[in-house]
Amino acid sequence: MTMPGADAITRAADALRRGELVAFPTETVYGLGADAASRDALRRLYAVKRRPLDHPVIVHLASAGQLGDWTSSVPSGAQRLAAALWPGPLTMVLPRAAWVPDAADSSKLPTIGLRVPDQPVALALLREFGGGVAAPSANRFGRVSPTTADDVRTDLGDDVAEVLDGGPCRVGIESTIVDWSTDAPSILRLGGVPRETIEELLGCAVPVRDDGSVRAPGTLASHYAPATRVEVVAGGDLRARARELSTCARVGVIAPELPADLPSSVVVVGVPVDADDYAHSLYRLFRIADDERLDVVLAVPPPGKGIGAAVADRLRRAAGSRTWA
Ligand code: TXA
Ligand code: MG
Repeated sequence: MTMPGADAITRAADALRRGELVAFPTETVYGLGADAASRDALRRLYAVKRRPLDHPVIVHLASAGQLGDWTSSVPSGAQRLAAALWPGPLTMVLPRAAWVPDAADSSKLPTIGLRVPDQPVALALLREFGGGVAAPSANRFGRVSPTTADDVRTDLGDDVAEVLDGGPCRVGIESTIVDWSTDAPSILRLGGVPRETIEELLGCAVPVRDDGSVRAPGTLASHYAPATRVEVVAGGDLRARARELSTCARVGVIAPELPADLPSSVVVVGVPVDADDYAHSLYRLFRIADDERLDVVLAVPPPGKGIGAAVADRLRRAAGSRTWA
């Protein structure tokens, strides 16, 4: 495990206190952090991220014990999820405490997204800083989320005061977002915690809401796309589609299993061994597809259970309307 020294953590916490931006690892993806209690720091965050002002950011906390500082009320179901799943890849949208600044000037939601990340460097930084750290994924808006410190430096360069390196992110895709701002909880984004786990803990069905009514960039169709065109294909169709396209395009494949006789020109971008590995490597594989300057990457999704459903969701969004088969 890569772990920056105590001096780097102290430096990063000081930078946050000065209103500067710090990139740090979480178990899901790298975050670009700013002091969530400072309007100026938040403004800087939106400018560097080039994020539209009406897209709220998640506030990261060192422990569930700080929930009361940021919310006006916490339903018992949310308390149950916090106790069972934090630290972990779960974000909860809750009624926002009155003192909390709007995530940005034009984001006037009466709610706040909160999470306690399960990553030692992130937790060390949050403890040292003491307050809440607002952090979207540390990529420019519309780019693939970074899962290594190098990815962050490639995307953000000198725009960030400090990049804490915690090695590659364990989970590899973003947190699951559960919305508690309406009568019954719903999932706004599939992610690191399987829907089944949440339903089991709550003892009820929790629907995935994807109606575009909430300002969430993760719900934009193109949000998780690499520059390379992505096509989702069924495993049984991979060989035929690869053959068809490879006569006139540079084709790559990501698939849990490879058919025996793929055309030799086809680039094998990745063969994830299971759904966890697929999630862990997905964004790195997207970046490889871009680096290889492929025209198209054919992706066979994992089975849609557990975290596999979140991977299939990201692939679908990356493919936009271009799903084949
Ligand atoms: O795993 C993660 O969640 C990563 C790491 C860094 O923690 N963060 C992340 O942040 O994915 P970002 O900004 O790329 O995506 C945050 C998502 C967006 O879809 C945003 O709209 C939604 O969370 N969100 C944040 N606050 C919200 C709120 N009050 N109501 C509804 N959605 C909210
Ligand atoms: Mg993001």
